[in-house]
Amino acid sequence: MNIRCAKPDDLMSMQHCNLLCLPENYQMKYYFYHGLTWPQLSYVAEDDKGNIVGYVLAKMEEPEPGEESKHGHITSLAVKRSYRRLGLAQKLMNQASQAMVECFDAQYVSLHVRKSNRAALNLYTDSLKFKIIEIEPKYYADGEDAYAMRRDLSEFS
Ligand code: ACO
Repeated sequence: MNIRCAKPDDLMSMQHCNLLCLPENYQMKYYFYHGLTWPQLSYVAEDDKGNIVGYVLAKMEEPEPGEESKHGHITSLAVKRSYRRLGLAQKLMNQASQAMVECFDAQYVSLHVRKSNRAALNLYTDSLKFKIIEIEPKYYADGEDAYAMRRDLSEFS
């Protein structure tokens, strides 16, 4: 299993993986927007034959009003079912976070996750030390609430 920076050629496989794994789906142009604007920040996991089995799609965010600190955002993360619990998501997230710091001087990274997503919540809180910042009511299209989470990135600088 190999983790590497995503290339434009990978974007369709990333979208395919997203469609298999998550109800939050995006048009191809949104993948290209990420890949063309922040080519350093999105990563893929590939098997021995070069098939994409997981991805993290990441970007930089505009600072909040009155905020100085630069921050990155995880738009989407998924690992195909038969490749889970191998540490791939943790590695993908750490690679993206390191690139946010090295390339854009990011101070923290943010994301949203469904309140019911136990696996992802364990990954974010236990393995990656994200903190819950707030609950965003009815954030998702089906009405489910999201946790807005943040991870301080000073350990990567
Ligand atoms: N149950 C409980 N804890 C879990 C689970 C699970 N099913 N999966 C991961 N974890 C926690 C564990 O603490 C695990 O460490 P351990 O295996 O030593 O116990 C730790 O996270 C690291 O797990 P990884 O192996 O790195 O995670 P994996 O590669 O399996 O991917 C992911 C986790 C991405 C959540 C995967 O289950 C998945 O693709 N799910 C569907 C898509 C999804 O929910 N994506 C996140 C949505 S939020 C967003 O995109 C911003």
